[in-house]
Amino acid sequence: MKRKLEGQVAIVTGASSGIGAGVAKALAGEGASVVINYSSSAEKAEKVKEEIQSAGGTATIIKADVSKEEDVLAMFQETFKQFGTIDILINNAGLQKDNKFHEMSLEEWNRVIGINLTGQFLCAREAIKEFLRRGVVPERSRAAGKIICMSSVHEVIPWAGHANYAASKGGVMMLMKSIAQEYAPMKIRVNSIGPGAIRTPINHAAWQTPQAYKQLLKLIPQKRIGEAEDIGSAAVWLASDDSDYVNGITLFVDGGMLLYPGFEDNG
Ligand code: BGC
Repeated sequence: MKRKLEGQVAIVTGASSGIGAGVAKALAGEGASVVINYSSSAEKAEKVKEEIQSAGGTATIIKADVSKEEDVLAMFQETFKQFGTIDILINNAGLQKDNKFHEMSLEEWNRVIGINLTGQFLCAREAIKEFLRRGVVPERSRAAGKIICMSSVHEVIPWAGHANYAASKGGVMMLMKSIAQEYAPMKIRVNSIGPGAIRTPINHAAWQTPQAYKQLLKLIPQKRIGEAEDIGSAAVWLASDDSDYVNGITLFVDGGMLLYPGFEDNG
């Protein structure tokens, strides 16, 4: 059977760990050549690359801070040099800098908005320029290009103590929908994935001890934490022609976190 992303080129931002690493491996497993982008952990990026290659996949590593325009431009140029074009952008790089709102520094605010929202703008803009230049290549995909924005359940669930993060994800939602509407006529598809609690370094404190994990499960009707693979398979679907008529949605992959779990035995 033909693999779902055979011959396609994907950039995955923030792919050295967590959800990004899981998505990079999943896309490579379906035949995509993957750019593993990272900004600080070169060794971890190398490990992801080795895993992909030892499974028979194709991957390269490109360093870039997605909040910096010159880094993003250089990353796309390097991608074109190595692989010729791009078919799939996974706008994944993201971080948290949590604080009580009245104590939040402008630095904490700007850093989170810079990576989580401006970074997605910069990468999406460069990807769309290339999709428009190249157009559809029918042997590879029915779309001229696909963008998947990593959002969060917090694009809709308010989050005390994380106003910068929740604001960035709310912003990602409208960025995603606006560009989906703008470029759908050109056969470019733009969607988001909204993960719930996934076992990654970003939320280590929430699952690390049995007590914290028990507390976390109160928020998850399916009573298990998500794994990076859960997001990887959603990303493969959204990137492939199996979802060709899907545009401008957030696919929540959250074990039911959005189902008002507080009402399970209450109300
Ligand atoms: C956050 C995690 C959190 C999850 C569910 C994610 O977007 O990055 O820290 O566990 O949402 O609240």
